[in-house]
Amino acid sequence: MSRFDQVKRILIENEYRWLITGVAGFIGSNLLEHLLRLNQRVVGVDNFVTGFQRNLDEVKGLVTPDQWDRFRFIEGDIQNISVCNDACQGVDYVLHQAALGSVPRSLEDPITTNEINISGFLNILVAARDANVKNFVYAASSSTYGDHPALPKVEENIGKPLSPYAVTKYVNELYADVFARSYGLNTIGLRYFNIFGPRQDPDGAYAAVIPKWVAALLKDEPVFINGDGETSRDFCYIKNAVQANILAAVAENTDALNQVYNVAVGDRTTLNQLFSSIQEKVLSTVKKHEEVEPLFRNFRAGDVKHSQADISKATDFLEYTPTHNVDAGLDESMGWYINFLDKNS
Ligand SMILES: NC(=O)c1ccc[n+]([C@@H]2O[C@H](COP(=O)([O-])OP(=O)(O)OC[C@H]3O[C@@H](n4cnc5c(N)ncnc54)[C@H](O)[C@@H]3O)[C@@H](O)[C@H]2O)c1
Repeated sequence: MSRFDQVKRILIENEYRWLITGVAGFIGSNLLEHLLRLNQRVVGVDNFVTGFQRNLDEVKGLVTPDQWDRFRFIEGDIQNISVCNDACQGVDYVLHQAALGSVPRSLEDPITTNEINISGFLNILVAARDANVKNFVYAASSSTYGDHPALPKVEENIGKPLSPYAVTKYVNELYADVFARSYGLNTIGLRYFNIFGPRQDPDGAYAAVIPKWVAALLKDEPVFINGDGETSRDFCYIKNAVQANILAAVAENTDALNQVYNVAVGDRTTLNQLFSSIQEKVLSTVKKHEEVEPLFRNFRAGDVKHSQADISKATDFLEYTPTHNVDAGLDESMGWYINFLDKNS
């Protein structure tokens, strides 16, 4: 039996209290769904800046009424310390996801990104420390590798950040490390690599590539590739990220704590390959679209050209074992996107 299966069995038999910040967002709402299915008690915070009530409603429809009753939602901003203190009361494990994502957004508005991603982060960190939580797990980012050329990316070797967003995510790691050393708070940072799956927002200027392309193909809109399409990423299905969060939260081994971990699959897919694969899946699912060619435009400032993770640290210390590669993740997500876009078109 895998470590994750063992942990799930322990959770089902023991009710713990979790805080998920950014609970109405993509990753947060998936964490909520999984934890409620395991009969956990969850407090969630969100101010809906990029999250949606519809994500919470969807989770409500996926769990039993008893499981949903174990969820308390606080509509609030992590920039407000009293919201953070209230949210952390009596909590065992924090999964901190609230932040302003997107490299281009941070280049356009570095101040707001800084306020939420650094000051907001510090508020939650202080509140978690004061509430004596067991473990504080937070969303770090592969953007922290910045201009470091090595592939695959190994946690210890980072370069210079290429965007304000990357700076904020690196500062999170520095603060978490200082809180571990200074106050004995157990922290684990998860450097996510392009997470995708159901409930990732397909709309807006800062939408991620997979939902954006699926939506464009379904609506017969042009698909743009920034650069020549040979840019590559380690796309990671949401269920792998959920697994990493839960394993990190319950980690007790001192070697595993106060570390950062890559959360990815360990594969590399170019945008050209991704486009072909998404187009094939969309065509075979809806059976009405003609094949289209993507339109190439300029490479985007602040982005790295290639990204691929070495996941051996998470495998060794957290016993993280990704269950889905890109293809399997896309297969599982396609139905959700088609349904969502159908309902919202
Ligand atoms: N999705 C990815 O591929 C990826 C990659 C690297 C890191 N991350 C990080 O993972 C986390 C979750 O990302 P996501 O993809 O789910 O994004 P998301 O935008 O769907 O979720 C973020 C959530 O945080 C909420 N939020 C933002 N500011 C807030 C504030 N001040 N107070 C309360 N709530 C606030 C938003 O409303 C939203 O619901 C973020 O920290 C992001 O930086 C994501």
